[in-house]
Amino acid sequence: MRRAPIPVELEFVQPFTFGVAIRLAYNAAAAGFKFLLRVYHSMKHTDFGHAQTHAKQLVTDRRIDQPGPRCFATAADVVHSEAHTLCAYIMMQQRPSILLGVPRVARYLSFSSQPGVSTTASLASVQELDIDEQIVVGIGEPLVALWGGAVDELRGFPALSGPGVEIPSTQHALWCWLRGDDQGELVIRSNAIADSLQDEFRLEQVVDAFKYGDAELSLDLTGYEDGTENPTGDDANAAAFVQEGAQGMVGSSFVAVQQWVHDLRSFSVLPQIEQDHIIGRRKSDNAEIEDAPLSAHVKRTEQESFEPPAFVLRRSMPFAGASGEGLMFVAFGKTLDAFELQLRRMAGLEDGIPDALFRFSHPVTGGYYWCPPVQGDRLDLSTVKM
Ligand code: HEM
Repeated sequence: MRRAPIPVELEFVQPFTFGVAIRLAYNAAAAGFKFLLRVYHSMKHTDFGHAQTHAKQLVTDRRIDQPGPRCFATAADVVHSEAHTLCAYIMMQQRPSILLGVPRVARYLSFSSQPGVSTTASLASVQELDIDEQIVVGIGEPLVALWGGAVDELRGFPALSGPGVEIPSTQHALWCWLRGDDQGELVIRSNAIADSLQDEFRLEQVVDAFKYGDAELSLDLTGYEDGTENPTGDDANAAAFVQEGAQGMVGSSFVAVQQWVHDLRSFSVLPQIEQDHIIGRRKSDNAEIEDAPLSAHVKRTEQESFEPPAFVLRRSMPFAGASGEGLMFVAFGKTLDAFELQLRRMAGLEDGIPDALFRFSHPVTGGYYWCPPVQGDRLDLSTVKM
């Protein structure tokens, strides 16, 4: 039965969401809804013109497209809604920076709260941060607790120990991942951020990172390609972002951050076959080694071997500096569970076999953060505001 038209307001927060949004709109058009189409473009994106053309075409043509699975579900919500006005906030891909991959250079900032800071001032200073596609901000459990709010699934990073293995927790209040092409610009921006936050937050750690190698994916400093088995497209989106729940949670992401310090010299003198068996892939062609030892890193972390499968979106980058050299391991997830399952198995807590990576590398930091969705050029902190 065809229902009476209901005004549907589709708010396209970013053109990056257009693939999904347009299909949703096509479905709603097919169901006879009227449109009020608003396109927001707060971030630099070369596809914006293209997105606008699409949007206009949608309004004039009322064309119908084959719905994708998630789009179909959302369209069904539209069809079944009794509301007279329905606002569809599409924020699934609010963080194109996460989906875009690793930049040429990056800077990681970790902050703790200043002693005695007021909740209002602390919240206001984070709310004032300018957000664009060159920054990802993560909020730690200590900060959510200070604000008196609650984020389901957010917790402090667990310190773990397994056979011969120590994994520290260095949980901070606030974490920023600054991304760019120019190291100088990152320095200027990070100084401005630290200055704007200084009354409420103390800068605890700064790590500069870079992309190694000219492949699309980054290499670890060992020379192995990192990120091969990352989910892509819709799978990346599904792995990295909260898909359902209240506005303020949908489109948010959780991130696990660990600084791993390598002993590159001890690794480089190992015979090639031994290096390959530590990783579980051949350095020469990146092929997976089926009969690698159980301790091989990719055997420990094989995402499909967990029940349910434990997919994460890794965006790690090499670093080098006074604190040594190694990998800033960064993994985004719709929860922190997939990462934690992998980490526990790496520590040997499942079967007593620690990851062979520990032969030449060890983590010196560990933090969990919640990355709120973005509205315009501000974080959407409605979930944690009391
Ligand atoms: C010294 C630190 C680390 C280094 C050098 C490293 C390096 C690598 C490399 C070279 C690969 C193979 C290619 C790829 O699929 O990306 C890989 C895979 C992977 N790593 Fe790591 N990694 C490190 C730490 C971690 C940690 C702490 C975790 C999670 C707890 C993790 C999770 C994964 C996952 C999920 C895969 C893909 C496994 C699959 O499904 O095949 N890695 N890593």
